[in-house]
Parts: sequence; structure tokens; C-alpha cells
Amino acid sequence: MPWRDPVDVAALSDLATPWCVHVVATLRIADHVAAGTTQIDELAAASACNAEALHRVLTHLVGRGVFEEPAPGRFAMNEPARALLDGPQRLGLDLDGFGGRMAHAWGSLLSAVRTGAPAYHEVFGRPFWEDLQAHPDIAASFDALMGPAGHGAPDPEVQVTGGWETVRTVVDVGGGTGSLLAGILRAHSTVRGTLVDLPETVARSREIFQAAGVAGRVTTLGQSFFHPLPAGADLYFLKSVLFDWPDREAQEILTRCAEAARPAGRVIVLNGVSPDDGARPSPSLMMMVLVGGKERSLAEFRQLARAAGLEVQAAARQPSGRFVVECRPSPVAAPSSP
Ligand SMILES: C[S@@+](CC[C@H](N)C(=O)[O-])C[C@H]1O[C@@H](n2cnc3c(N)ncnc32)[C@H](O)[C@@H]1O
Repeated sequence: MPWRDPVDVAALSDLATPWCVHVVATLRIADHVAAGTTQIDELAAASACNAEALHRVLTHLVGRGVFEEPAPGRFAMNEPARALLDGPQRLGLDLDGFGGRMAHAWGSLLSAVRTGAPAYHEVFGRPFWEDLQAHPDIAASFDALMGPAGHGAPDPEVQVTGGWETVRTVVDVGGGTGSLLAGILRAHSTVRGTLVDLPETVARSREIFQAAGVAGRVTTLGQSFFHPLPAGADLYFLKSVLFDWPDREAQEILTRCAEAARPAGRVIVLNGVSPDDGARPSPSLMMMVLVGGKERSLAEFRQLARAAGLEVQAAARQPSGRFVVECRPSPVAAPSSP
């Protein structure tokens, strides 16, 4: 038997450390300490909180290796604390932004497990996407986390069958604030693109396209991807979209893509499908809790795609390491004569 560390269930289930990390990230304590505010009273004043309570939280974290306390009540940065400086990681921890939605949503896990359906509404009053629509500030923070400020600029090098020479038009379906499309258009100067996403998200794409110098080759469309999509493009991208949805909705999104791509376009799926190589798809618990979505094996995806009128034509791990699935619309059966 392989040797394994003994598992300490009490330590595994202790919520104190994750919450302390979220709280100091929200209060931007690392930024204050890095800027020279190191005494607990000054830190509490700078972050508008109670000095004694903050001291206890920081003492806990020092005991876990985050920050140092070289003298009583005086704190210093260390390498783990640097991860809490304003930046991508802090964005996902900020309890005042989308990080708070992710953290508090865990409170609905038991209901989700009991029923098999997301119970996000039990915590926030509405299902996930409706909650974002009702809270523009949280939606903006979600978009930022998905975009370059959070997840970074996505690698635009996607290999497609036959190469990019024959591609003239691309639609990025649920493309967020446009960073994948911007990268693709930068890399392929003759290609034109359309970004489809919810109106508020699409409105946040302007700066990204301008910064990439591709604004003149982009059309933006603020609409739902459950409605008909712009028809006749060469490629329809779905990146990190399908794993946000249960099967019924995922199939509907694929159906809209198939209808728009017919007869000669292709649908390219990035993220959310894993190869049939024996490894199980990631359990994607956060997706389960927030939206009832999941990662699918290629076999599961193939079935879903077929029901939506698409055939998988290629599926491979690309040099970037990303697993990419390419589909073509299935030929429409000719109506049988009476
Ligand atoms: C996980 S994000 C992925 C964004 C982008 N493709 C990426 O990889 O960064 C899912 C996207 O789906 C969009 N979305 C959710 N519901 C939608 C709908 N009904 N119609 C269009 N877009 C929607 C969200 O606004 C969000 O931008």
C-alpha cells in the first residue's frame, strides 16, 4: 500500500483559517502592511475595523504561516501574505465582491447534495444568474474575475482543423468581456469577430478591444445565448460556458450554436470537457454549488452535442495543454416525401 499522511479530519473541517484569509483579503491588510502600516491600531484604523478582533484574526493567521508578528502587535509581510496583495487572487477572496458569493454559497452545499439541484437561492434569494443581474456591482466583480484582471489573458493559440487561413469570422458565445476574442483577432489580422454575452458584460468589453487594437473588427451583441445567434460565421467559440449549466440548458446553448453554424460553420469548445482517458472529470464542486453545472467527459459531451445537432469532429489536447473539442453541424435529414 502506498504510504499516505494520516488525515486529520478535525483540521480538514476547521473553517477558521479560510474565513480569516477571506477577511484580511477583504480588508486589504496585506496592502496596508506592505505600504508600511504595521501596528495593529493603525491597521485597524486604516481598514475601519476593531483592533482587538483584527489582532486575533492576524494572530491566528501568523500561527498558520501567513504574515509574521516580529513584535507584539506589529505585523510584517512574508511570502504567503504577498498572495493577498491587491491582484487576481485577492479578487476571488474579496467578501465584498464576487468572492463573497463564492464563499457564502458553500452554505448551500448540503441542500444541493440532498436535492441534486443548486440551492444558491437559499443563501442569496435568487438563482445565480438572476442574482448577478440584480446586483450590477457583483456582476462587474464576476466579469473582472473571469477577465484579464482575474484569470489573466487567455492563450489565443487555438488549433483548428485545416488551420486559420480559411477562417474569416468568429463568434465568441458567452465570451465575457472579450479577452479571448481580442487575442484571436490580434493573432489573425484578417479575421472579424462578434462577441455575444449579456448586455452589461458586453458593455465592459470596449477597453479590452481598444487596448488590443482590434475594435474595428469587432461587433458586440448584448443578448442571451438562449436566443438565436448570428448565423453564418466560420467558428463559434464556447469557452468556460457549458460547465456553467445542467444538461438541458447546455444542450440548448449547443443547439443555438448548431443552428447558427449550419451548414458549414464549426463549434469549438474550450474548458469543461475532459478526455476519455480513464481519469474522472473534475468534480467541479464550485460549479455544482453556484449554478448546478459540471465538467463532462468527452463521451458525455458527444451525446449532448449529438442531441443538439452537432457531431464531434476532433478532440485533442493542444500544445498549450488545453483540451479542445471541435464539432460540425450534423447534416439535416431531408424531409421524407409523402
Ligand atoms: C464563466 S463565464 C466565461 C466567460 C468567457 N467565455 C471566459 O472564458 O472568460 C460565463 C459567461 O456566460 C455569460 N452568460 C451567462 N448567461 C448568459 C446568457 N443567458 N446569455 C449570454 N451570456 C450569458 C456570463 O455573462 C459570462 O460572461
